[in-house]
Amino acid sequence: MQTVTAIADVRARIRAWRAEGARVAFVPTMGNLHAGHISLIELARRHGDRFVASIFVNPMQFGPNEDFAHYPRTPSRDADMLAAAGCDLMFMPDVGEMYGAGSTAPTRVEVPGISTTLCGEFRPGHFEGVATVVAKLFNIVQPDVAVFGEKDFQQLVVIRRMAADLCFPIAIIGAPTVREPDGLAMSSRNQYLDAQERAMAPAIHAALRTATGVIAAGATDYAAIELEGAAGLVARGFRVDYFAVRRRIDLSVPAAADRELVVLAAARLGKARLIDNLQVERG
Ligand code: PAJ
Repeated sequence: MQTVTAIADVRARIRAWRAEGARVAFVPTMGNLHAGHISLIELARRHGDRFVASIFVNPMQFGPNEDFAHYPRTPSRDADMLAAAGCDLMFMPDVGEMYGAGSTAPTRVEVPGISTTLCGEFRPGHFEGVATVVAKLFNIVQPDVAVFGEKDFQQLVVIRRMAADLCFPIAIIGAPTVREPDGLAMSSRNQYLDAQERAMAPAIHAALRTATGVIAAGATDYAAIELEGAAGLVARGFRVDYFAVRRRIDLSVPAAADRELVVLAAARLGKARLIDNLQVERG
């Protein structure tokens, strides 16, 4: 595996692969890799001849009071994991390489509507930061295929919309959420939990399962399901940002006829903000 930090070096390598007729698959990450990331990488490898991963903790997607400075950074361990997973090229730029040294107001990519609901309401500007950095990474790597986790379901919907609207010729693939044995979705932010909080954290997945269970059985009073889900988590000590039943395709509030749904939750426990979701077909 080759490791590069310069955009020009990524372009040179991709150009050489293209000349060989290779199909390029890409997985963007913020590093501190875990089994969830590795599952994306394994899926990506099935869709390309050459495989690129990026590791970049993107300042534009963090709010002023969020964890940018403390976000776990483990580059050498990440490099070992990527090499073991069969990665050909690891792109690890610094902030200056991605945003330009003197640029105080870089161009931004905004995906309206879906970026301001759910997590967007609680993290203003977050999805603008995500859409911007992913558009930049797409222009740098120019892959045929890019893989994103369903764990960050809203992010996946935003990126699908952005790629379609900006005519990126890139197939966007969603990968299923990888969980700990007790149901907690794997996340770099799980490290922020102390032992007691870690023991409580799977309650989010349990609440989502309860909600999807009743929807699959035919319940359609989504407002009541949302209230019950949120109240159950509050009773266990979570600070709930939202517990919401939405249309899978665009995250809008479902109408009676909609069947393809997703239940999404975001809740804080100690220093950690945890998000999770489960898809369900209305019964
Ligand atoms: P990061 O949180 O590092 O996640 C990188 C990719 O891994 C995302 O597509 C995310 O959805 C996926 N992922 C994380 N945990 C997962 C799990 N338990 N199961 C399956 N997939 C999982 O998401 C980002 O980085 C950034 O916002 C990024 C897209 C790189 C833009 O900066």
